[in-house]
Amino acid sequence: MLVRVVLLLHSYTQFFKLRIIKNKNLQEFDGILVSNKFDDVTKKVISFYNNNPFPNYDNEDNKSTILAKGDNSYLSSLKKLLGFNKKILEVGCGTGQYSNYFAIGTNNHVFALDPTYNSLKLAKDFSDKNNIKNIKYINGSIFEDLFEKESFDLVFCSGVLHHTKDTYLGFEKCAELVKKNGYILIGLYNSYSRFSLTKFFFKLFGAKAVSYFDPILKNKKISQASINAWLEDQYNHPVERSHSIQELLSWFKKFNIEPLSGIPNINSVQLNKIYEQIDKKNLHKRKSKLSLIFSQIKMNFNLLGKDAALFCILGKKL
Ligand SMILES: C[S@@+](CC[C@H](N)C(=O)[O-])C[C@H]1O[C@@H](n2cnc3c(N)ncnc32)[C@H](O)[C@@H]1O
Repeated sequence: MLVRVVLLLHSYTQFFKLRIIKNKNLQEFDGILVSNKFDDVTKKVISFYNNNPFPNYDNEDNKSTILAKGDNSYLSSLKKLLGFNKKILEVGCGTGQYSNYFAIGTNNHVFALDPTYNSLKLAKDFSDKNNIKNIKYINGSIFEDLFEKESFDLVFCSGVLHHTKDTYLGFEKCAELVKKNGYILIGLYNSYSRFSLTKFFFKLFGAKAVSYFDPILKNKKISQASINAWLEDQYNHPVERSHSIQELLSWFKKFNIEPLSGIPNINSVQLNKIYEQIDKKNLHKRKSKLSLIFSQIKMNFNLLGKDAALFCILGKKL
């Protein structure tokens, strides 16, 4: 017991020594730092996710399954690109799948931020059960200015900002936390493909009907908690907007962030090969506006809106 307390204290002081968290007086509950100065929209979103922590875990999830899922996606190449001993912030980590993936098998310092306490509790329990120690969970909002500027080698924020009071302001807050030469990944709902027939069926016939159509529910063997979280998040969300690739690219430009790759493609660099292709300058030539619009329209036919019409862009701060 004593050894555990000493180890925990050691890991907390390590995180504070990094001088990244501005407010040293945050309260700690169950190993989670808590700050709670939330705006009204965030409060509304918190009460939604406290009932449906997202994405939740599948029954059989453990360190190896989370590692395998990440390794099967573009995250694997991104993790390789980052390397070791890096400072990573995940904004809106939900139940912490991405943060845990970035932490597993590395000496990275991962900061996982989310205003929904119940989601963080699941995330923290998962890390504890799987002996993943290099994550600091913070119960707070991106609008609270909790971190020192230009502190992180990667700011990762997927599926979050379109559920806040102001997507652009949220982006600004994320962008200012990235170090020079650091990376930022932003994932947002796409305005060309967020409309889906499945959504329409949900409104008409309810949850049971969409489980026959929704590709995520159809294709995955997942826990009831994950199913409920997915249904609520996709079909019943109280705050949601959508954006285009062109819009996000213009925001990157304002912050002197070079867009490197995306899903769908913004150039010929494949996000799942970013580590191998980042230096191949001939692949970086940007697609035309028309071609970008066409790719976004095409997302509608990607397994009937798989991945919830989410697009993402990875950039590097110059
Ligand atoms: C759809 S979930 C995405 C979770 C995770 N990023 C993923 O993709 O698995 C959206 C998350 O954004 C969080 N969120 C909402 N408002 C936020 C804010 N102002 N700052 C940070 N996170 C926020 C919610 O609590 C929720 O966990």
